[in-house]
Amino acid sequence: LSDPFNVHDYELLARERLDDNAWEYLRGGAGDETTLRDNIAAFARWKLRPRVLVATDRIDTSTTVLGTPIAAPIVVAPLATQKLFHPDGEAATARAAAAAGTLMVLSSSATMRPAAVAEAAPGAPRWFQVYVFRDRAITQALIDEACANDYGALVLTVDTPILGRREGALRVGFHIPAGLEVAADIFEGLDSSIGWGDLEWLAGHGLPVVLKGVVTAEDAQRAVEHGAAAVVVSNHGGRQLDGVSATIDALPQVVEAIDGRAEVLLDSGVRRGVDVLRALALGARAVLVGRAMAFGLAVAGEPGVRAVLGLLRDEVELGLRLLGCSSPAEVSREHVEWRP
Ligand SMILES: Cc1cc2nc3c(=O)[nH]c(=O)nc-3n(C[C@H](O)[C@H](O)[C@H](O)COP(=O)(O)O)c2cc1C
Repeated sequence: LSDPFNVHDYELLARERLDDNAWEYLRGGAGDETTLRDNIAAFARWKLRPRVLVATDRIDTSTTVLGTPIAAPIVVAPLATQKLFHPDGEAATARAAAAAGTLMVLSSSATMRPAAVAEAAPGAPRWFQVYVFRDRAITQALIDEACANDYGALVLTVDTPILGRREGALRVGFHIPAGLEVAADIFEGLDSSIGWGDLEWLAGHGLPVVLKGVVTAEDAQRAVEHGAAAVVVSNHGGRQLDGVSATIDALPQVVEAIDGRAEVLLDSGVRRGVDVLRALALGARAVLVGRAMAFGLAVAGEPGVRAVLGLLRDEVELGLRLLGCSSPAEVSREHVEWRP
C-alpha cells in the first residue's frame, strides 16, 4: 500500500507505523465501542439525494467558521499529545492546516505550548481547546498564553468531566512515553465540578466561546442562553460515554434547537467527503476531523496531514459536483434522506 488513496489507506499505514501504545490510544473508544462504530455506520444510513442537470462547472468549497475563512468545511480537531504520533507533533499539524487553508484547534493536553504552536505557523487561524483542570492556575496560564498568541476562540470541551474508560488503552498499559512533555495532564487533573456557571469566566477572556460535546436539544438551548458562539456536536469520537447516538443522528435536534442563533459544527466518525456533505445537509457549517488527521500525521508528519486534508477537500469538491451543488451553502436538507 505505497500510494494511499483515502483515509482508510492512511489508517492502515498508521497502524503499521505506530506501536500498540500509541495505536490503541488513537484508535480506541469507550466501553463496548458501540458509539465508536456507530459514528461511522450512521453516516451510511443517511442517503444522498443528488439533483441533476445543475451547472456545477464552477465549485467553491470554501466557507467560514465564526467569520474565519477556510478553504473547505473541514477543521482540525483538538487531539492531545501529538508527539506520540510523530516527533514533529502539533507543529506539523499546525503547518499542514495552514497550508490546507484551514483552522487548527489546539488541545489543552498538547505536547507543545500554545505559543510554540503559534510560532510554527505564523498568521494561520487557530482556536484553543480548554479542559478545566482542578488546578485552575494551569488552565488559566494556558488560556492566557492562547489569548496572547492570537488564538481566535476558546473551545470548551464539555463531554469530559472525567475521561471515559477506554479498555483497549488500559489493556496495553497506555502511558505517555518518557521524554514527552504534556502541557497539562488529562489523566490526572480534570475538574468534574465545572458547570454552566463557569462559562462566564471563560467568556470573560473576550474570545468567542465554542462548546464541544453537545448532543441534545436541551443543552443546545442552554448553550445559546449562555452565549456560546458555536457548538460542536461531538461524542469525542466515541471515547467518552459509550451508548451515545452517532453525531450525525444527534445533529438535527441540535440544529433545530439552536435555530440559527449560533454556528453548529460536527465531529466524530468523519472519514469521507460524503460524510462532510451529510453534515452540511443536516445543518452543520463544517466538520472537525480527529483520527483522520492523526493517521496522516503518524504516516508522514506535516505532508501526511496535508495529504489527508487535501484528499478530503477533493472528495468534498467531487461530492458537491455530483450532488448538484456549487458551494457548501447550497447543500440543504433535501439532499439527504434517512434510510435505516
Ligand atoms: C487520540 C485522541 C485524542 C483526543 N484528545 C482530545 C483533546 O485533548 N481535547 C478534546 O477536546 N478532544 C480530544 N479528542 C476528541 C477529538 O477532538 C474529536 O472530538 C474526535 O477525535 C472526533 O472523532 P474522529 O476521531 O472520529 O474524527 C481526542 C480524540 C482522539 C482520537
